[in-house]
Amino acid sequence: MAAHASVALSRTGAKMPLVGFGLWKVTKATCADTVYNAIKAGYRLLDGAGDYGNEKEAGEGLRRAIADGIVKREDVWVTSKLWNTFHKHEHVKALARKQLGLWGIDYFDLFLVHFPISLQYVDPSHRYPPEWWGDDKKVHLANVPFRETWTAMEELVDEGLVKNIGVSNTQGALLLDILRYARYPPQVNQVELHPYLTQEALIKLCKTLGIAITAYSSLGPQSYVELGADKGAQNLLEHSSISSIASKHSKSTAQVLLRWAVQQGLAVIPKSNNHDRLVANLQVDQFTLTEEEMKAISSLNINLRLNDPADLDPRMAIFA
Ligand SMILES: NC(=O)c1ccc[n+]([C@@H]2O[C@H](COP(=O)([O-])OP(=O)(O)OC[C@H]3O[C@@H](n4cnc5c(N)ncnc54)[C@H](OP(=O)(O)O)[C@@H]3O)[C@@H](O)[C@H]2O)c1
Repeated sequence: MAAHASVALSRTGAKMPLVGFGLWKVTKATCADTVYNAIKAGYRLLDGAGDYGNEKEAGEGLRRAIADGIVKREDVWVTSKLWNTFHKHEHVKALARKQLGLWGIDYFDLFLVHFPISLQYVDPSHRYPPEWWGDDKKVHLANVPFRETWTAMEELVDEGLVKNIGVSNTQGALLLDILRYARYPPQVNQVELHPYLTQEALIKLCKTLGIAITAYSSLGPQSYVELGADKGAQNLLEHSSISSIASKHSKSTAQVLLRWAVQQGLAVIPKSNNHDRLVANLQVDQFTLTEEEMKAISSLNINLRLNDPADLDPRMAIFA
């Protein structure tokens, strides 16, 4: 099933599942059970991050699934991400080790630089996860060149703490620059991508460079409703174009949105706190959208970016 359909990454040939489970806003109190049940339902990729504040609980769910014999560690792909306050060379390894400790595992399958934005260090003993702000609730930038961070990411590979490395929220100009110096090129770029933000040029560039794309927020504005940050966009899950395609295939609108991405060769990582929706989101390989349907969905593009750090502080306009 789709959980086991995969994309082979450059450099290692490692097979990353095309459908995984996203952990952002997965409720801390129920996260261990949710992860355990996601694995039981067939998910074989967990997409976490230091910033999500639930790595310990996610790890508990994973380790329980391993202890119960549902999976072995090597059957589950664990992705995590380095937060913006830890971009200095000396902090990258310390944080990777801390995050592995929270999960209770000894390697990540994939470790991503969460944003190409460097913020001032916050000691984890002071506040973890540190989020975007200092104690004064203001954003404090730090002058860490991306190359310093990437060199440290490569060292994590050398030391066996992570198997594959990549970036997130990264545009063409920076990708091309990383390739000028990288010993290990980024294998994955995880980006916001849905029918309101189709990103054709970035997809084309990443394909050309051999960088796999993971699409996040595949269901569009829905994820941002609970944050009051959906920018007033019409809900894609209730959009008439998506609904009519969904009813033709006897699928849900969420399944159509996920299928639209997967059919382009993109990996997806839907999140749900609801078990039935979580199970349904995994089932996106038993139907095929016609070329016409794919085009109709892509034509909804309005270049609407929901996750833009510039909304927090104009100095973080990485997509400008
Ligand atoms: N790299 C980055 O900067 C970055 C940024 C954002 C997200 N991500 C990753 O990508 C993952 C997915 O993105 P996301 O969480 O923003 O959004 P998403 O998975 O596209 O959508 C999640 C939202 O849709 C709802 N939902 C899920 N399945 C549904 C279904 N079948 N029918 C109706 N509603 C459904 C969820 O509510 P319920 O929980 O109530 O079902 C939630 O409100 C994240 O969890 C995270 O791992 C990465």
